[in-house]
Amino acid sequence: MKDSRWLLVALILGLILGQPGNLSAQDQPKAKKLNPYTGNPEAIAEGRKVYFLYSCNACHGGTGGGGMAGRPGILYDDNWVYGSDDESLFKLMRGQIPNQTMPAVGQSMTDDEIWKVLAWIRTLYKGDPSRINW
Ligand code: HEC
Repeated sequence: MKDSRWLLVALILGLILGQPGNLSAQDQPKAKKLNPYTGNPEAIAEGRKVYFLYSCNACHGGTGGGGMAGRPGILYDDNWVYGSDDESLFKLMRGQIPNQTMPAVGQSMTDDEIWKVLAWIRTLYKGDPSRINW
């Protein structure tokens, strides 16, 4: 069946050509930097205390290596389950991401505590530096 073969070729070509191209880094919407404490040494030291105070280490390990939360819970790699930007992580802490597995531990934390603990987590990062959007 010659005709149907061409139809198949056309279909496949259409699929390939119809793919939206990969956005280059410049075209991607810039993540908003919302954390007032990123890079602030005192806040980072406090953030580390907050981490242990709220037992984040019970699931993520003492140095963010995943622990009980497993691979998605690794805090220093460049694999982010719901995004790496400040807004996504803040929402995750507050339990505002639909179907998230992580419990809403941040519901009993102040905004300040959340931003400080996130500032500390940022210092653990060992991923590709060009992927930093915070
Ligand atoms: C009961 C276990 C548990 C506790 C306690 C917990 N987490 Fe999580 N956390 C998870 C899991 C599981 C994920 C993976 C995301 C998901 O599936 O919702 C995660 C994801 C994260 C992420 C994003 C990681 C990524 O790669 O996308 C951050 C940041 C984070 N947690 C920070 C914290 C902080 C800070 C605390 C303490 C205030 C905390 N977590 C307490 C289980 C936990």
